[in-house]
Amino acid sequence: MDANVTKPPEIQFIPANWESISSFAGSLAVFVPENGSVNELARKLDNICGGQISKYLASPEFVDLKAPGIEVIGYPGGCTARSLLVAKVPVDATPEQMKRLGTGIAMKAAKSGVCVLAGDLDTISDIALGVSLGSYSFDRYRTAKPDQKNRENSLLVVTGDPKIASDGYHSAAAVAKGVNFTRDLVNEPANILTTCEFAKRVSEFRELGLSVSVLEEAELERIGMRTLLSVGAGSATPSKVAMIEWKGASGPPLALVGKGVVFDTGGISIKPALRMEEMTMDMAGAAVVAGVMKTLAMRKSPSHVVGALGLVENMPGGRALRPGDVVKSLKGDTVEVINTDAEGRLVLADLLWYVQDTHKPSAMIDLATLTGAIIVGIGNELAGVFSNDDELVDAFLCAAEREGEGAWRMPLHDPYDKLLKSRVADIKNVGDRSAGAVTAAQFLKRFVKADLPWIHMDIAGVAYSEGKSGAVPKGATGWGVQSIDRLIKERFEVT
Ligand code: BES
Ligand code: ZN
Ligand code: ZN
Repeated sequence: MDANVTKPPEIQFIPANWESISSFAGSLAVFVPENGSVNELARKLDNICGGQISKYLASPEFVDLKAPGIEVIGYPGGCTARSLLVAKVPVDATPEQMKRLGTGIAMKAAKSGVCVLAGDLDTISDIALGVSLGSYSFDRYRTAKPDQKNRENSLLVVTGDPKIASDGYHSAAAVAKGVNFTRDLVNEPANILTTCEFAKRVSEFRELGLSVSVLEEAELERIGMRTLLSVGAGSATPSKVAMIEWKGASGPPLALVGKGVVFDTGGISIKPALRMEEMTMDMAGAAVVAGVMKTLAMRKSPSHVVGALGLVENMPGGRALRPGDVVKSLKGDTVEVINTDAEGRLVLADLLWYVQDTHKPSAMIDLATLTGAIIVGIGNELAGVFSNDDELVDAFLCAAEREGEGAWRMPLHDPYDKLLKSRVADIKNVGDRSAGAVTAAQFLKRFVKADLPWIHMDIAGVAYSEGKSGAVPKGATGWGVQSIDRLIKERFEVT
């Protein structure tokens, strides 16, 4: 398909030039503290547009606006802008709140472009990151582009010292690039993002200094990754494992492992038609791993991290895996497949074992859109996080809180193992209807060495959004890239 790809606009930091601010055709945004006086830039803009800002600030609506919050004033006088966005900043605003205001500003400006009058706020990087995340959209496959006339396709941040601001933004820019890269992968339809295309896109990471190797089917067969291969057996697109390594430090790596099912029909245990199209996002775990690896390389993180992506397609067909089949994992344990739709754990079982064998990591995190049961349990605001290591998982939960990505610890509990007892093999791939997300985690735990700190993240509920919260776009969210990058910054970097 001829995808007419337009590059997203990049954040530019500029000094206050009132002539160009007055003639900016997009949205102009100012920050107003909840209590205290407005800054120089907001006052100047207020003069230009005939006191419209101060009029709003004196209104009961401003008093009622909960901080952090944004008010839109349409078509202000005295300037070309389509709207003025007034962001109300709480006392002692957290970096996350400033990021969220940036996102809100960009989302309210939609595609009209935005010029943010930030001034010398010390949270300017957080705001800019928010703006960059909030301006994301996926319109690669819309042939009718919106009318660009009288629109500004730019993201400008006005500040007293553009050089300092843009230098300071370097690391946050890498995060924005990583998150939006993940979102693109997750939003891509499965006829475009095949296993081959996925491997090709991460192979381009070599330009950033990452090592990338792609293991093909024959090699996976030779290694003995048969549970992973069994999932892709019915597909015309070949199964692959992509290994990505960032060596910004020596010593054993942190391993990130992602479920990359490019489409999940359920296989022979086929899914119902209703909303099956959403299963194009069943590779979100692998996409988050890819996004984190990109971020690490772009910000030259002093850490050692290895990413493993299991790229397969779960299709029915003459060669497809059947219910009742028994498959031998790389670890050596045999698995009776009861339901071919519980395929993610078959992919991860081999991948987890492979990474531990080859890289001897100091810790391991896997990400997967693993179960519908996690959505039944905790919905779409929180990812389910399972871990055998209190310290590691607490550090992650802190990082997630700091980044505004919802996460909640769920139990690992060995008595649930009995639900996975098989009549013919060492283990079966599903339990009964109870505790579906926990039994999936217990299944994975079998493939994690006992003393290795490990977190399993079931992201089925958070990888994709209806876009109602206003904090993430409709479709792919990129959930996890920011929290994992933060965890790496705080726990896995040499200082
Ligand atoms: N990819 C699905 C899980 C999923 C469901 C992700 C909804 C996102 C939204 C997974 O492979 C799956 O189908 N799991 C089954 C497991 C069951 C057969 C034990 C499920 O959750 O129904
Ligand atoms: Zn499935
Ligand atoms: Zn799946």
